[in-house]
Amino acid sequence: MKVEIVGVPMDLGANRRGTDMGPSALRYAGLSKALQKMEIDVIDTGNIEIPVPESLKIENPHLLFVDEIIHGCEQLAHIVSGIVGRGSLPLILGGDHSISLGTLAGVARRIPDVGVIWFDAHGDFNTFETSETGNIHGMSLAASCGWGDPRLVTIGGFTPKVKEEKTVIIGVRDLDPEEKERLKRSKVTVYSMNKIDEMGIAAVVKEAVAIAGRGGTGFHVSFDLDVVDPSIASGVGTPVTGGLNYREAHLALELVAETGLLRSLEMVEVNPIVDRGGNTTAVLAVELITSALGKRIYC
Ligand code: ARG
Ligand code: MN
Ligand code: MN
Ligand code: MN
Repeated sequence: MKVEIVGVPMDLGANRRGTDMGPSALRYAGLSKALQKMEIDVIDTGNIEIPVPESLKIENPHLLFVDEIIHGCEQLAHIVSGIVGRGSLPLILGGDHSISLGTLAGVARRIPDVGVIWFDAHGDFNTFETSETGNIHGMSLAASCGWGDPRLVTIGGFTPKVKEEKTVIIGVRDLDPEEKERLKRSKVTVYSMNKIDEMGIAAVVKEAVAIAGRGGTGFHVSFDLDVVDPSIASGVGTPVTGGLNYREAHLALELVAETGLLRSLEMVEVNPIVDRGGNTTAVLAVELITSALGKRIYC
């Protein structure tokens, strides 16, 4: 397997500064070395250039920094589509979750029927009409399914990127009221934290890969680190208590790896400047990446 890394130092879509340092934090945590140790052929293509918010003016409070986010996502879509076209696996380092608009545009251009598994404490299923913050990282899954601002929805030149029928969210525990209603009306499959408590993470992930992987075309995994409990992943912008524990997070990604259907992987929302444990959230993210790419404890 060949893996190509792309860093996206984006925090324009989030409610606070710092996720722009995510790619550095993940590299500093030893990402490339960890993959080389697994005998994965890895190349790091570097970072996309994203402006810092201090250099910009807010034009639309309901869609904060929309122009710059679209510009960054168009670049990312182009790069990701090139990587998939070469038969490599793109590994995208966020950055806040708005970058998925670019990632999914790039993947879906090559794999039109791609599924998606979205690990997140949140649904990211807002539109500019339902968002209470105007932060685009809370809208990226909705827009990828075709909902919201026409310019966001058509990043990459087509819509939708993914079918709701092949979209699964795992780990949700914080939805805004109208976001929840839209999600309920949609065909997206949602495994909230209480569902995981009830069923166990293994059963949940087995159902999820069956839904996202239907037809055998493969799926994209978008992993927002805030799906993990903040007691072991404090370095995220929007922490919510009651998340996945260490082994649940690993097992979920180990089961993903086992399917052989993972076509693209993205780790987002790592924010090292709010990490109470040094750089431990990025270290955890690197470990989780190795699980998703096939690392096994024993068998
Ligand atoms: N629902 C909230 C909002 O729309 C929080 C979204 C958090 N999203 C994330 N990718 N961390 O602003
Ligand atoms: Mn998210
Ligand atoms: Mn989240
Ligand atoms: Mn909320």
